[in-house]
Amino acid sequence: MNRNEILFNRAKAIIPGGVNSPVRAFGSVGGVPCFIKKAQGAYVWDENDTRYIDYVGSWGPAIVGHAHPEVLEAVREAAAGGLSFGAPTEGEIIIAEEIAKLVPSVEQVRLVSSGTEATMTAIRLARGYTGRDKIIKFEGCYHGHSDSLLVKAGSGLLTFGNPSSAGVPADFTKHTLVLEYNNVAQLEEAFAQSGNDIACVILEPFVGNMNLVRPSESFVNTLRTLTEQHGAVLVYDEVMTGFRVALGGAQSLHGIKPDLTTMGKVIGGGMPLAAFGGKREIMECISPLGGVYQAGTLSGNPLAVAAGLKTLEIIQRDGFYENLTARTGQLVQGFTAAAQENGVQFTADSVGGMFGLYFADHTPQNYGDMARSNIDAFKHFFHGMLERNVAFGPSAYEAGFVSAAHTPELIDETIVISREVFQNMAK
Ligand SMILES: Cc1ncc(COP(=O)(O)O)c(C=O)c1O
Repeated sequence: MNRNEILFNRAKAIIPGGVNSPVRAFGSVGGVPCFIKKAQGAYVWDENDTRYIDYVGSWGPAIVGHAHPEVLEAVREAAAGGLSFGAPTEGEIIIAEEIAKLVPSVEQVRLVSSGTEATMTAIRLARGYTGRDKIIKFEGCYHGHSDSLLVKAGSGLLTFGNPSSAGVPADFTKHTLVLEYNNVAQLEEAFAQSGNDIACVILEPFVGNMNLVRPSESFVNTLRTLTEQHGAVLVYDEVMTGFRVALGGAQSLHGIKPDLTTMGKVIGGGMPLAAFGGKREIMECISPLGGVYQAGTLSGNPLAVAAGLKTLEIIQRDGFYENLTARTGQLVQGFTAAAQENGVQFTADSVGGMFGLYFADHTPQNYGDMARSNIDAFKHFFHGMLERNVAFGPSAYEAGFVSAAHTPELIDETIVISREVFQNMAK
């Protein structure tokens, strides 16, 4: 047995499924997860001392590359001054001002520790602000694991949802309507039927949790128009897309000003930091100013803020997003050509430093499309690449991430490796 196997067996005895977040268990691709020992730049090393080119990037945060020396130095410096105070710090103001500068729809910000907290509270805030209960989400979008968001579509098209997880009372999801992503007609129908009861609509403005799925222009424009017309809060969940698809997030690419935005991943630079923010009028409903309650012992933790601030500084340097976008494009174009050469049905897409790989004849528009793609082909590709020391997220439903540490040469190296894998798949 190698060390990954030994550790996985040991972990399974003491940690449910051997992991602290389910996708890490390799359940949907089979095999034994790599236990990571260290990471640097574009690479991670597992406990067998095997080095991998990493396209997981801690599921998004590692945009400047792992263990960036400037980020580490900022964290070291912060740590020397104490790990947590439970009292306000100047760093929290600076990062809030920085976020508001980069994302102009955000007039006020509250820091929390995880994306789940950010979206859960944004929903509560939207409900508190509007005095309404019902919310709309889209099939295939993931917004963390709070009760009212762990929901699947109801029996009819416009009936409210059912829990998608055991342990969630049906009463908690009966106010959540689940619609199909990119389906404008369905959205219009839902607002025609229940528009004045809808507290908010929450969406991933580029979806990364059913692989990468782009919204159509008419979908996002209709969303903005209908929410405005009906007094519903539009929540852009930019936990994944924020500072990832562009410096100003997905909203800057859409030209849309949402009412609330949730953020995470990149803003913590690899530390537990997330945020929600938006219109002052809505944000002032949160305690201690308003009646909507939210709190957190480690909210705005000084180490997380230091890592986040340094990361936000690095991503604003000249050419950062131009390079990131070009390299991500280089990767997906190289894969597409390699697949074509070998007659493997494959398409790919990218936006900023985020990409999607699909074993299908067209890029998916919604969850149904994605579910109809060839998941077995993905598994072959995944394991073929992993055996050749290139790591992707262990599920066909996850987007991939490129960092500033992925040089054009490293991307070329990855493409060369992929040719061998596509060749084997064609056999
Ligand atoms: C779009 C989106 N929202 C929310 C979350 C939840 O964030 P966290 O895992 O930090 O709780 C995720 C996590 O992947 C996400 O991708």
